[in-house]
Formats: sequence, structure tokens, C-alpha cells
Amino acid sequence: MIEEKPCILVIHGPNLNLLGKREPNIYGNLTLDEINANIRGKANNLGFAVEFVQSNHEGYIVDAIQQAEGNQKGIIINAAAFTHYSIAIRDALAAISVPAIEVHLSNIYKREEFRHHSVISSVVYGQISGFGYDSYLLALEAVARLIGNKR
Ligand code: DQA
Repeated sequence: MIEEKPCILVIHGPNLNLLGKREPNIYGNLTLDEINANIRGKANNLGFAVEFVQSNHEGYIVDAIQQAEGNQKGIIINAAAFTHYSIAIRDALAAISVPAIEVHLSNIYKREEFRHHSVISSVVYGQISGFGYDSYLLALEAVARLIGNKR
């Protein structure tokens, strides 16, 4: 019997499709595809399958979170600007039993004051902020520990 690998959903919020071109001094030079390739490589090493969603639309992200229930073992979410005000995304994360980890490329606490508050941090397992795309890779390590897939 072929054993299915546990699947992790990685959600990228608005404007993250512009990575590589968007404020590289803050977000780095890698494109989203390049970051996703790094995430996939690390996920593979940890024995995970991975699915990616990027959307600039709040409702699309809410739908993706709802659909994770029963299908994915963990969620890694960079909700981007929605982090700071989307109660709909917060409520979707609170509604499911799949553990989620919040990530940010930049350290949101070192930046403008409006970025210091995350409305989702109280409903996720934890937050990793400020390590560039390594934030996603560290989150994968955290998910591995959480769901006992540590190799
Ligand atoms: C971000 C930080 C947010 O404040 C910002 O709106 C983003 C990206 C980050 O990854 O550092 O779009 O989530």
C-alpha cells in the first residue's frame, strides 16, 4: 500500500505575487515561484506534500482555509495586509481544527505601527516573523513538530 504524505497548505495573501519586484529591500529578491520551490524542497525532506494558494482576494483565502478541514494537516499562512484587519480570515482560522502558523517575511514589529497588530495571531498556533523566506521554512519545521512528522 502506498502511504500518502501529510499535506500542508501554504497560503500567500495580497501582493505576495509581486515578490521579487515588490520593495526588495524589505521582502528580498526572490519571486514567489522561487520561494515556493524552496518550500517544496524543505517539505519534501520533512515528508510532507505541499499545496500553494496565492490570492489578492479575502473571500478566496477564507474558502481555502475552510477547505483545509479534513484535507490538510497544517496551514502556513502569510495573510500579508489582511493580517492587520481581516476578521473573516481570523474567524475562518478559528473555525477549523487544522493547526495554522502565521508567517511574515519582514519583522512586522519593526515596521509602521499599523503592522504591529495581527488579528490572526490569537487563533494560530504561533507566529514567525522577520526571517525573509526562511520564515516559511521555519514554519515547516514547526508544523513537523506539531503533527509529529519530525524526521
Ligand atoms: C507581510 C507584512 C505585512 O504587513 C504586509 O502587508 C505584507 C507582507 C510580510 O510578509 O512581511 O504584505 O505579511
